[in-house]
Amino acid sequence: MRTQVVIIGAGPAGLMLSHLLHKAGIASLVLERRTAAYVQSRIRAGILEQVTVDLLREIGVCAGMEREGLPHQGFSLALDGDIFRIDMHALTGGSSVMVYGQTQVTRDLIEAFADRPGDLVFEAENVALHDLGSGRPSVTYEKDGQTLRVQCDYVAGCDGYHGVSRGSIPDHAGRSYERAYPFGWLGILADVPPCHHELIYSNHARGFALASMRSPVRSRYYVQVPSDEDIGAWPDARLWDELALRLGPEAASHMQTGPSIEKSIAGLKSFVFEPMRYGALFLAGDAAHIVPPTGAKGLNLAMSDVKLLSRAFAARYVEGTEAELDRYSERALSRVWKAERFSWWFTGLTHRFPNMDAFDRRMQVAELSYIRGSRAAQTVMAENYVGLPL
Ligand code: FAD
Ligand code: DHB
Repeated sequence: MRTQVVIIGAGPAGLMLSHLLHKAGIASLVLERRTAAYVQSRIRAGILEQVTVDLLREIGVCAGMEREGLPHQGFSLALDGDIFRIDMHALTGGSSVMVYGQTQVTRDLIEAFADRPGDLVFEAENVALHDLGSGRPSVTYEKDGQTLRVQCDYVAGCDGYHGVSRGSIPDHAGRSYERAYPFGWLGILADVPPCHHELIYSNHARGFALASMRSPVRSRYYVQVPSDEDIGAWPDARLWDELALRLGPEAASHMQTGPSIEKSIAGLKSFVFEPMRYGALFLAGDAAHIVPPTGAKGLNLAMSDVKLLSRAFAARYVEGTEAELDRYSERALSRVWKAERFSWWFTGLTHRFPNMDAFDRRMQVAELSYIRGSRAAQTVMAENYVGLPL
């Protein structure tokens, strides 16, 4: 078998990249280890930046988003239950974000393969990358007990943090930067109306909480918990009580509770691998970088990577120049590091760290109070939240 670009992983990055390449007349094959049902059932991010919204429109996979997505022009911060609003729209000269879940985005992107089903393979086992430095790269995988080999010009590693692509790069050819956080997010999804019409990021003495949503009748909430927390210790009733405390009386008075339809704990990490290229392999999305979820940058960074990468492939195949591919890593990383900084900073501002003393807490309180009173500080937040220009 032969194609131009083999894409490893059918998460948002891999699926979007394949559609963008298809639109540019470039052939690709997406290899995904899991089943379609598994990929579509993962509950993850919920906020789309303008870059992501524009990309979905560009490839024409936007009907679901236009129908069900909720445009948000602001979000709120809370300190010990006292809530104030950041007017993103006014502060950024008209930018906003869209509430539309990664689960729906993934479903829509998979459905859009209906007219080229051969380009997306699920349950591709033991994917392995070969001869990445040679000019004649290939990828092998197992499907239904058979081993298959695909010859290609390039490989796009869109297989997330635990994927095989980054691990195929020799140690001497890159380096990683990492920060672990001593807590995770316990998330709950429930079919109840949201407690507020926009998101609330809350710094509370008991720990961080976030009120988010998927629709006018489906809520998504998170509370900070220790990294080694046992999810069994959080029956729904305890979680609703804790959310009410951490979000404060105003939000709690509008909070409707109900049975969880999903509940899970995700760890928090900052991670960047440099460079995002090795020979014929280009990394995109979580395969190259992870952010803590505060600020909702993970999915959006994955999308901006593949936008840059698809443009570079188009320059290679349509105009015959490799210069854009050569610049891909540097250009992507410049934006990645800024989102890493914002996510790290927003996490530090809003979470309770185990080694925090009274002075550290006062610093958080002072910074939140400063943001509340300063249009300049709010503008910095809003500009980062809606997404920096590509
Ligand atoms: P992924 O979505 O990880 O997709 C990678 C794909 O590659 C997967 O389908 C995987 O099965 C496949 N794969 C892996 N290994 C192989 C292999 N060897 N062969 C073939 N295929 C392979 N971001 C936010 O902004 N807000 C959130 O609330 C949020 N919550 C999250 C919760 C969790 C539990 C996780 C893990 C992430 C969360 N994120 C969140 C981050 C966001 O979901 C990711 O940044 C986003 O999914 C990145 O997309 P991706 O396509 O790069 O990687
Ligand atoms: C959601 C997740 C985030 O990380 C965030 O910052 C905002 C919203 C969500 O899942 O709804």
